[in-house]
Amino acid sequence: MSEETSPVRNYQSEPARKGVSNGARHALLKADSVITDIKESEEDVVLNISLRPKKFGEFVGHKDIVDNLKIAIQAAQERKEPLEHVLLSGPPGLGKTSLSHIIAHEMGAKITATSGPAIERAGDLIGILTNLENGDILFIDEIHRMSKVVEEFLYPAMESFQIDFVIDKGPYAKTIKFNLKPFTLIGATTRTGLLAAPLRGRFGIFYSLDFYKVEDLAKIIKNSSQLLSVKIDDPATLEIAKRSRGTPRIANRLLRRVRDYAQVLKIENVDQPVTSKILNELGIDQAGFDDLDRKVLKLILESFGGGPVGIESLAASLNEEVDTIEDAVEPYLLMAGYLKRTSRGRLATRKAFEHFGLKFNQEQQAEIF
Ligand SMILES: Nc1ncnc2c1ncn2[C@@H]1O[C@H](COP(=O)(O)OP(=O)(O)OP(=O)(O)O)[C@@H](O)[C@H]1O
Ligand SMILES: [Mg+2]
Repeated sequence: MSEETSPVRNYQSEPARKGVSNGARHALLKADSVITDIKESEEDVVLNISLRPKKFGEFVGHKDIVDNLKIAIQAAQERKEPLEHVLLSGPPGLGKTSLSHIIAHEMGAKITATSGPAIERAGDLIGILTNLENGDILFIDEIHRMSKVVEEFLYPAMESFQIDFVIDKGPYAKTIKFNLKPFTLIGATTRTGLLAAPLRGRFGIFYSLDFYKVEDLAKIIKNSSQLLSVKIDDPATLEIAKRSRGTPRIANRLLRRVRDYAQVLKIENVDQPVTSKILNELGIDQAGFDDLDRKVLKLILESFGGGPVGIESLAASLNEEVDTIEDAVEPYLLMAGYLKRTSRGRLATRKAFEHFGLKFNQEQQAEIF
């Protein structure tokens, strides 16, 4: 996102922190239309540095994964070997990047971070791989977006810490093997389904991060409020947690918005009614839906009579990418029970009808199955 177009940037350039006029405050609230944009914004990058968990002790929730990883790390350390390659999957903002950095921290290893789309040519990857030292961690974000050519170079590197260079062409072509230092690859993806089977198969450890429970989100918000010096009580914390779409990144973002509001209005102690009011003003409803969630559901409900409707039709009607709907919108709506996936497309559930105050026609919906 460029500086000029970033709503967060616009928002920050408001004289909001000093100004207290109601008009300005209103503009401040409304300007941040990407409040629940799940992807990382510039503001996240800057501010989350201090909020990002750095050790296992600071990583809230996902106890099974953490316990498992601790054992794998200890075992690898005892054997004086690098950790097996790790694949982390799950919707945006659930802690894949955080976990990768924690693994590096706990292994006492250096981490080199890149992303699938950033590695354009095989040469880029070779450069990165040959620079890795013994036991280093290579973190590849959005690994599903790596090109096929690059991916094929990764196979022998992952399997036997070797890469094959081909020099010359035609009858003179020669393959030279180059030995790499043993390293650990950590891949992160929002879409395991898009990963080629040979790539998936080369990871020894595979975890899928799921949406967080409200209690865990509340814990994250509590910790962050201390780091950000916000005085917020437990019911208010819970209110934010409930509307965070099961996503720590959104929880932290909502907390920061509440903090701004409290600061401008000179509210010392943030309580539940204040929190509820600001979240309503920000357009975050009781279910934690953002604009796009609402648009998707309303479209299915109102234009397609509840569905079923194909993902392509949905994306086309909303002028959105299929990927955005599949990665960022659908997983939460499915998990929270507002949407169902059927062989004939996406179907709104009774809960979705009721959320928007619409009548659920049991018989009509039943015909679909
Ligand atoms: N388990 C957790 N405990 C505490 N905070 C967390 C946890 N998981 C995530 N966070 C917070 O949420 C933010 C987003 O997490 P992170 O960047 O690791 O998500 P991600 O899965 O890599 O997202 P993306 O797919 O968009 O890259 C972190 O900076 C951190 O503040
Ligand atoms: Mg990430």
